[in-house]
Amino acid sequence: MENTAQSLRIDGARLWASLMEMARIGATPAGGCNRQALTDEDKQGRDLFLQWCREIGCEVRIDRMGNIFVRRAGSEPDAPPVVTGSHLDTQPTGGKFDGVYGVLAGLEVLRTLEDQGVRTRASLELVVWTNEEGARFSPAMIGSGVWAGEFSLEYGHGRADKSGATIGEELRRIGYLGEEPAEPKPIAAAFEVHIEQGPILEKKNEVIGVVTGVQGIRWYDVTFHGTPCHAGPTPMADRRDPVQALALLCERLYSEVKAYSDDARMTCGDLRAEPGSRNTVPEKVALALDLRHPQPEGLEHLHRTLYRMADQVEEATGVAIDVREEWHSPPVVFDSQCIEAVDDAAKALGCSHRKMVSGAGHDSVYVSRVAPVSMIFVPCAGGLSHNEAESAEPDHLEAGCNVLLQAMLARAGT
Ligand code: GLV
Ligand code: MN
Ligand code: MN
Ligand code: MN
Repeated sequence: MENTAQSLRIDGARLWASLMEMARIGATPAGGCNRQALTDEDKQGRDLFLQWCREIGCEVRIDRMGNIFVRRAGSEPDAPPVVTGSHLDTQPTGGKFDGVYGVLAGLEVLRTLEDQGVRTRASLELVVWTNEEGARFSPAMIGSGVWAGEFSLEYGHGRADKSGATIGEELRRIGYLGEEPAEPKPIAAAFEVHIEQGPILEKKNEVIGVVTGVQGIRWYDVTFHGTPCHAGPTPMADRRDPVQALALLCERLYSEVKAYSDDARMTCGDLRAEPGSRNTVPEKVALALDLRHPQPEGLEHLHRTLYRMADQVEEATGVAIDVREEWHSPPVVFDSQCIEAVDDAAKALGCSHRKMVSGAGHDSVYVSRVAPVSMIFVPCAGGLSHNEAESAEPDHLEAGCNVLLQAMLARAGT
């Protein structure tokens, strides 16, 4: 039986076809996907996924955060399951692979076992986590975060998008407010396969990233309060212009981040000026800021630098600056046995591979609070992600899925 299990391979063409079929839901003219969390498109994607899962006879549960759990029972159904999963939601201008690959690779593993009539000892579970991206509702990874106990259910349900619609309301509206409590049960091991979303594997010409952990992330809402006035008559010296303060803070912070370490990251992903009129100095500018670093001390340094510089710029410009921390996801180190299971599977399959830390956040971060976890990366073209042009090679996706299959089989037993 061991040998049979080790020689099992997934169907790469079927995986690719499923990815392309899912990508039609929310397809954008530029070739990407806009399937943001809990929209009608997310509902269609979830419905299609559940139809596929029911076709292979899996049992489905949905929790109060809309996380979907698909179970293929093992021969010892009471043993803690081996879990995989990722997310179906996308960025507003997202690609075809971020998250979706991890979900449909998990489905491909279950389909392969069903085709081959292989029953694992421990059950296998495939999870679709709600709102991983954090693009529509902040913070990211909130479905897995509530489930793992990082956030309360009330907090999760109350998060609102820019129009004021909340996660709780939108879950009910699209029919995915489940009955199960959003809380963990014992898990033997969990794996998530994902495109790398960065350039390392492609540059090194390697196929598999054995992911040893995830760097830390801190999100801030920074608001600059100025005095609205006329663009013409008001002398420059008489203005309290929030955009000047923003420009000064960003310039100083970018310089510090670049000088501090090659590992540090700073992104100003969303900027809004109010009232938003070309010939009025804005009353207010809102900046959504993302800072990252793989080491806790590094992230703490960036955090303190932000607050210090905001005080200095406030002093220098007379523009009041509020810095509100929205989210903190500290760096995570994955489980050594799960890392080894991925490493062994990559070796056994003859895939070139390297150990690496994830630059992106993933649901595995919160899953790792309650279960042994690691991740598998495959290359993506140009390292590009959160971009409609995101693309990945079918052979690489197939290899990553085979690594997932073998790592799950090794931990579940046959
Ligand atoms: C999630 O996509 C992240 O911001 O890393
Ligand atoms: Mn993702
Ligand atoms: Mn993403
Ligand atoms: Mn992500």
